Amino acid sequence: KKEEQLYRPNFHFTPKKGWMNDPNGLYYKDGVYNLFFQYYPDGNKWGPMHWGHATSKDLVKWEEQPIALYPDDLGYIFSGSAVVDKNNTSGFGDAKNNPVVAIYTYHNPNREKDGNIDVESQGIAYSLDNSKTWTKYSSNPVLKNPGIRDFRDPKVIWDAKRKQWAMALAAQDRAHFYTSKNLKDWTFQSEFGKDLGGHGGVWECPDLFPLKVEGSKEEKWVLIVNINLGGPNNGSAGQYFVGDFDGKTFKIDEHFTKQLQREKAVWLDWGKDNYASVSFDNVPQDKRIIIGWMSNWEYAQEVPTEFWRSSMTVAREVSLKKTKDGYVLKNVPVDQLKKYQGKPINKKISLKSENQLLAKSDINLAKAVIDLDLKKMSAGKYTFALKNTLGEEVLFGIDNKAKELFIDRSKSGKTDFGKNYATPMTKAPMNEIYVNAKMKLVIDKTSIEIFFNDGEKVLTEIFFPNENFSELTLSTDTLGSSLDFSAYQLNIK
Ligand code: FRU
Repeated sequence: KKEEQLYRPNFHFTPKKGWMNDPNGLYYKDGVYNLFFQYYPDGNKWGPMHWGHATSKDLVKWEEQPIALYPDDLGYIFSGSAVVDKNNTSGFGDAKNNPVVAIYTYHNPNREKDGNIDVESQGIAYSLDNSKTWTKYSSNPVLKNPGIRDFRDPKVIWDAKRKQWAMALAAQDRAHFYTSKNLKDWTFQSEFGKDLGGHGGVWECPDLFPLKVEGSKEEKWVLIVNINLGGPNNGSAGQYFVGDFDGKTFKIDEHFTKQLQREKAVWLDWGKDNYASVSFDNVPQDKRIIIGWMSNWEYAQEVPTEFWRSSMTVAREVSLKKTKDGYVLKNVPVDQLKKYQGKPINKKISLKSENQLLAKSDINLAKAVIDLDLKKMSAGKYTFALKNTLGEEVLFGIDNKAKELFIDRSKSGKTDFGKNYATPMTKAPMNEIYVNAKMKLVIDKTSIEIFFNDGEKVLTEIFFPNENFSELTLSTDTLGSSLDFSAYQLNIK
C-alpha cells in the first residue's frame, strides 16, 4: 500500500491495478479523447492481453473505463489503432451514427505453443456508442498471416487524397502497407525499411501520417517505427522516417536520406522510457498528438511498483521542422497542460561555480512544469539535479564540452531491479555547442520529460526514489552564464 502511494504518478495515466504496456486505439470523437492500452488486469507482469480503456476531455486528466476488448478464440488482443469511420465505409453504423472501428492484432497463444509461425493476424471490432461497448467483426481475421512470425500492430489512417484507408503494419524487420475501401478487405501495397534505420531489434508499432513542414506549404509523410531492442540508450525506443506516401508506397525524402546516412537512425526520444508512441485519429484542427508508454522492455516488468505497472507519457503535439541537417519531428506537451499551470515563480539567476538552489519549498516538484532558459553559455557542463533529503538524485543537463545532453539516474533511489536501468547513463549527442538553450521540464513523482529547444530533442525517464524529490539545483564549472527560471505548479488532482 505504502509503495503504491509512493510511486503512483500525480498526473500521468496509470491503470488502477494490473499491468499496462502500449497505448492503443487513440482517437477523438464528440469532445472525448479515447486511450486504449495493452492490459493484463490479473497480474503485474505482461500476460494475456486485453484492451484497457481510459477517457479524457483535455488529454491531461484521464479516467479509467471498463475493459474494452477481451481475448477470444482467435487469441490475445495485441496493439492496434482505432478510426472514426465518418463515411460509414465499413457499414457498421450509419451516416448519423459514425462507427468507431478498432483494428488490432490477434496473437494466438495456442498456435504459438504448437510451434507455428503464423500466430499473428489482424482483426477488427466496432463501437456505435463511443466505446462503451464493442462488437467484434464476425469474419475476423480481416488480414491473415502470410508466414511472418512478427506481423502486428496495425495503424490505420484515412488517406483523404486517395479516398482509402491506409494501414502501416510491423512485419518483423520492416513495415508493410495495406489499403482498403471498407476496413474489412485489405490489399498489400508495398514494404519499407528492411535496410534502413535502426534494426537492433524487431520493428513494432508503426505510425504513418502527413504533416506540414513548419513555415512552408510543403507536406511530408512521417513514419514512426518503434524498435525493441536497439534504442539509442539501450532497450526499446522509437525512431522515425520522413518522406512521401503516394497511396501505395512510402519513400524517404532525399534530404532525409542524407540525414539517415549520417545518423544511422533518427530518434523520437533519447530517454530510456518512451516506447510505442503512436498518434490519435481525428483530432480537431488536424493536430497530430502522440502518447507513448513510459517504460522500457528491458526492465518494465521489474520496476518497484506492486499493484499496477507503468504509466503513459504526457500527450504531446508533434510538428515537423526542416533544418540544414535534415528533418526534426519536434514534440512538446499539448497546450491543454497550460490550463493546469499555476502562477509562475520567476527568477533571473547569474550562475556561479557553486551549487545553486533553484527551487525547494516554493514548489511541489512532484507535479510541476519548469522552463529553463540558459544564456551566454560557455564550453562547460550545466548539471541540474532533482534531490531529496536522503541524498538521492537524478542529474540531467547539457554538456557543452562533450557535446551531449544527459540524464544520470544511477543514484536516484531504487535502481538495482533491471538491466541497463541505472547504467550506462543516458546521452543524446548535440550538433553544436549551445550559447543559448531552453529546456521545458514536466516533472511527476516518478518521471521527468525534458523538452529541449522547443521539443527538438526529447528525453523521457522514470525513477523510483525512496522519498519524493524536493529540491532542484544547478551546478556548472563555468562562469558568466545566466538562467531565466520559471516554475509552475500543476494543479491536477
Ligand atoms: C510492443 C508490443 C507490440 C505488441 C504488444 C503486446 O510493446 O510488443 O508489438 O502488439 O506489445 O503486448
